[in-house]
Amino acid sequence: MMSLEQVWGLRFRASNKGCPRLAPRSGMVAGLVAWFLVQAPIASPVMLAAPNMAGLAAPTNLRCEYLTNPLGIDVTQPRFAWVLEDSERGQTQSAYQVLVATSADELSHDQGDAWSSGRVASDNSTQVAYAGKALESGRRYYWKVRAWDKGGAASAYSQPAWFEMGLLAPSDWKGQWIGDANQFRTEFSLAAPVARARATIAGIGYYELHINGERIGRSVLDPAWTTYEKRVLYATYDVTPYFQAGANAIGVMLGQGWYAKRALRFQLEVELADGRHFQVQSNTSWKARNGPVVSDSVYNGEVYDARLEAPGWDRAGFDDSAWRAAASVAGPQGVLSAQMMPPIRNVDTLVPLSMKSPKPGVYVYDMGQNMSGWAELRVRGPRGATVKMSFAELTYDDGMINRDNIRAAKASDSYILRGEGEEVYNPHFTYHGFRYVEVTGYPGTPSLDSIRGRVLHSAVEPIGSFVASKQILNQIQRLIRWSQLTNLFGIPTDCDQRDERQGWMGDAQVTAEEAMMNFDMAAFYTNFVRDIRDVQASDGTITDTVPHRYGSRPADPAWGTAFPLICWYMWQQYGDRRILEENYESLKKYVEFLRSRAPDNVLRYSYYGDWVAIEHTPGEVVSDAYYYYDVEILRDIARILGKGADSQAYGQLADQIRAAFNQAFFDAKTGTYANGTQTADALALFLGLVPSDRRGGVAEHLTNDITYGHNTHVTTGFIGVKVLMPALTEIGRSDLAYELAVQTTYPSWGYMVDHGATTLWELWQEKTGPSMNSHDHAMFGSVGAWFYDALAGINVDPDGAGYRHIRIEPQVAEDLHWVSATVETVRGTVSSSWTHSPGEIMLDVTIPVNSDAKVVVPKEEEMTGVTVREGDRIVWQNGQFVPGDPGVTGASEAHGDVTFEVGSGEYAFRLTGE
Ligand code: BGC
Repeated sequence: MMSLEQVWGLRFRASNKGCPRLAPRSGMVAGLVAWFLVQAPIASPVMLAAPNMAGLAAPTNLRCEYLTNPLGIDVTQPRFAWVLEDSERGQTQSAYQVLVATSADELSHDQGDAWSSGRVASDNSTQVAYAGKALESGRRYYWKVRAWDKGGAASAYSQPAWFEMGLLAPSDWKGQWIGDANQFRTEFSLAAPVARARATIAGIGYYELHINGERIGRSVLDPAWTTYEKRVLYATYDVTPYFQAGANAIGVMLGQGWYAKRALRFQLEVELADGRHFQVQSNTSWKARNGPVVSDSVYNGEVYDARLEAPGWDRAGFDDSAWRAAASVAGPQGVLSAQMMPPIRNVDTLVPLSMKSPKPGVYVYDMGQNMSGWAELRVRGPRGATVKMSFAELTYDDGMINRDNIRAAKASDSYILRGEGEEVYNPHFTYHGFRYVEVTGYPGTPSLDSIRGRVLHSAVEPIGSFVASKQILNQIQRLIRWSQLTNLFGIPTDCDQRDERQGWMGDAQVTAEEAMMNFDMAAFYTNFVRDIRDVQASDGTITDTVPHRYGSRPADPAWGTAFPLICWYMWQQYGDRRILEENYESLKKYVEFLRSRAPDNVLRYSYYGDWVAIEHTPGEVVSDAYYYYDVEILRDIARILGKGADSQAYGQLADQIRAAFNQAFFDAKTGTYANGTQTADALALFLGLVPSDRRGGVAEHLTNDITYGHNTHVTTGFIGVKVLMPALTEIGRSDLAYELAVQTTYPSWGYMVDHGATTLWELWQEKTGPSMNSHDHAMFGSVGAWFYDALAGINVDPDGAGYRHIRIEPQVAEDLHWVSATVETVRGTVSSSWTHSPGEIMLDVTIPVNSDAKVVVPKEEEMTGVTVREGDRIVWQNGQFVPGDPGVTGASEAHGDVTFEVGSGEYAFRLTGE
């Protein structure tokens, strides 16, 4: 929780940001004067203090395929991105040059022997595709970039970055699949010290790699779950420091994971200091056995018998005569692809809040937070003693854990002691969603320190922050972030605790925007979109869950829409044209399948509709609306890709669907859609399905239903609420959306907060018991996108994919004093912070170099005599733009708000009036 001091601190920062910023600008003038007067050969201190004398700084934050220095990629024309900084406003990149070299030395001489792009006149600073010599399997490439500013001055080259290719061709894989055991080892001897070593491993369901007594890498539960018949992900590790001349050993542990079997394909490439090459491959010369992991299951947990450990098994010289020869197994059918996204990691550790003993011998730990991962156990005791840890989101009144809602998942880990000193156990091949840990069988009495919560999830970087003066919003934001992260396990999951944890596509589509504002999801969704393509059948159908395990084929249309929609968000957020190109034919096939099920232009089939709604909306309304949405997206993608005929054809189809939708579902008498639920009306409004002469009426019906019909509460499920907030904003009722957002009585997000939720519930209702009531579902967190795009007002302009053009348009709510949000976009920092008091609104904005923005400075209704200052200059007065402020290129008034056009830079707008 934020203290009042912190709150004021934020406000202070937000409201004062503009003033001190004036100093560098006058410093710059002073610096220039000093330079020309003195013409000193050595830069004076004043000069050094004037940062913009340097012009465009060398590009930073170099990414390749959205990753920093990725090891083992298999994209043959990887894309580069960089971020530009300049203290001068309105700065853009007029050209760039990328150099890619096969050695660091070559690059340091500004030579790109693999590729030199030359000076490319372009403002692209993301999605720049490699176009040099064919990239070679296993080779590392070094790259750097420089940029020219709008005046044609070149920056220095960036610091070097690199990327390294994985195994590109199936024939590069020499090892064979081995399996049928959970522990494997091999030994070999190296004739000389090692110059370079790379381990490439595909170990499914999950693997742990050991070399010479050390566990390699920080990934857990690796690789990510895929449709194994189509694709298996492999990881590459730089293991150079782990080997030495002489005897060496490799060990691998395998878990079942989602594969429900075990298979390993491994390859080690060693370059010796004397230039010779050496390779180790998985094959039947490896030794195998079943080790201390007695059983492992994602849902049920792990049993680990420390007495079965074989100390030294992963070191050379171990006596493995009791181990059997590794069995060759068929292995999965799928192609081997590089895992090019953040792996699952232990990203945080929680110390329990409390430990209680509701019954003799039963200890219940409260982590204080519903989390995903496992518990680390510390224990001393006799050999053979078994400590059992059982996981739950809830407790009963008597303090015992309540596992009614996790259904068939047994979610327990057992550790059997080896009986030597302090033993520390972390499970290997399972995870749980839990707040409470019940410990039984503990020898003696455990302490608070006997258990630690190891938080695991895909290690996506946080890139967004949102805070507001209304505490409930910050609390909801906290729940959203936790729910989102705890549901990222290689795929976006619905929940993390019960016998599900599936890539339910409906949940994925409603949360994607929120996730992209809070976290760097670019690589993660790149992988997930490919996962979706992997489940597509030749008839175009996709499935409710990806990989497909639960649900149906074809997917419920509001679930299947995750395919076009996530592609579309990738375009908007990251400017990812390639994902549109790569998926175009598949998207078209999907839409054509939908069309085949809608002969009269109404798509009616539906399984879940507005899932977990309070008021039921006919499923066909939901399905048909999403059919329309998908066709519209395809139309736009076709346009972007220059497929004019397709774009026109899908535009026409969209028109037909819109007409048919109105004919099928619009009730002219009531002026509403279907049975008039919030979801039905919001979907129609949000998607622009409502004929213009009916819009006012439908909007009124919706707002009346919320305000009077339900005393300012939602009645939607998770599909409806995703579109309800933007629909209200679009019809000019962000005030009402705001009231819903800060509502604390049932049903609302605030109700969850007030009832002790630490992650978002699956249901609006506070429910426990054996029914469907997960206490950690991410899907209601879709409102998080609205926090950023409406309350903070950070938006990609419709024609500004990848934040090339930005629109800052905050929705200022009456009793909200301030909002402050920042997003690290592909082009750099975008931020928007506002405060308001009677007669005054202050809006501080940051726009990255190489972007521009329209900044809508809102005014109070009825305000007259509006003046807007930016810093110390007047930029708007008497209804007119006042030019002269650097970076502010124009302004206009619409609906009473003043919109400024600005280039990159930091701006502090202050609007005053009567
Ligand atoms: C999941 C949901 C999912 C739904 C499909 C549930 O069991 O947890 O979030 O979208 O099934 O209706």
